[in-house]
Amino acid sequence: MLILILSGFSITLMEYHFSIKNHLQKMYICWNNQVEEPQLSAWFTPEKRPDVITTTDWLAPVIWDGTYNRRILDEYYEKLNITIGLAVCGYGKLRDLYLKPFLDSADKHFMVGHRVIIYILTDDFNKLPYVELGPRRTFKVLPLLQPEVWQASPLNCLSSLYAHLQDDVHHEVNFLFAMAVYQIFKYDFGVETLGRSVAQLHAWWYFKKPHDFPYEKRATSAAFIPFGKGDFYYHHAIVGGTPLEVSSVIKQYREGKAHDAANKLTSIYESYLNKYFFFNKPTKLLSPEYNWDPNIKTPPQIKCVKIAWQCLDGCTTPFIGEQVEHSNFSSEN
Ligand SMILES: *[C@@H]1O[C@H](CO)[C@@H](O)[C@H](O)[C@H]1NC(C)=O
Repeated sequence: MLILILSGFSITLMEYHFSIKNHLQKMYICWNNQVEEPQLSAWFTPEKRPDVITTTDWLAPVIWDGTYNRRILDEYYEKLNITIGLAVCGYGKLRDLYLKPFLDSADKHFMVGHRVIIYILTDDFNKLPYVELGPRRTFKVLPLLQPEVWQASPLNCLSSLYAHLQDDVHHEVNFLFAMAVYQIFKYDFGVETLGRSVAQLHAWWYFKKPHDFPYEKRATSAAFIPFGKGDFYYHHAIVGGTPLEVSSVIKQYREGKAHDAANKLTSIYESYLNKYFFFNKPTKLLSPEYNWDPNIKTPPQIKCVKIAWQCLDGCTTPFIGEQVEHSNFSSEN
């Protein structure tokens, strides 16, 4: 009898708990500006590309040219009245060399027709290039936390973005992409790329096996991935998702850096990023068409290059540690 009463009581408690949890979740979604992703079957046709991996083991779509119906998605997101953020960091020589072509091409090809806010993180407000933006596009210039050029590292860029995310970026956009500045948009980069957690497949490594991937191999590093493990090699050039998810990537990167610094280790941003996606599987992957390196002979699988990697400054092999020394969103100082 007592057990019956007790279990009745605990069921009531549980129901109460779930209704509160439900309510809190709803409020949370509202606070975080999150929107529901559309049904995959409504817009994704992986069977159109039998030549490539279009679905991961954990059932996330890999977006290749020909697999998506952008019109349906455009209508869907238009109704939801979304705003998409694009964050880029330009300081010192990088700002002078790469920022203008990046911004000009982003204006032409990034999320055409939708409301876009471009966040430019920079060390010097006076040295920004003149760029004329199309309709429904605005930009915001955000200061780097440590603007001295010698401190302008990916860690500084991402930490600065993290701080601004907590302040206002979070409330201003539904989706956000953090991109490296040395890329040029070549073709439309549209709403088919939106998702809760979006990772970019690395052009150099797509056609290789996991045991070849340049993951962090020192077991004491926070970025360590055991030999033979791992799904794909992701590129640091493009990281996307909800502001909450992008914050979470940066948070883990900073914690990993701090952990490793305490152990006198250092690893590149891309290693921490790969570790992050190893544990937190992305909900959407972008094919190497979204970030193709024109220095590689283009295989037939690459049908349409949306973004071309533009590392002019001695970094044509961007995965090698030292050579990304001065790249934004990528390595350390
Ligand atoms: C769409 O969003 C913008 C900015 O968030 C807002 O100013 C505008 O009123 C919204 N329009 C509609 C129809 O909800």
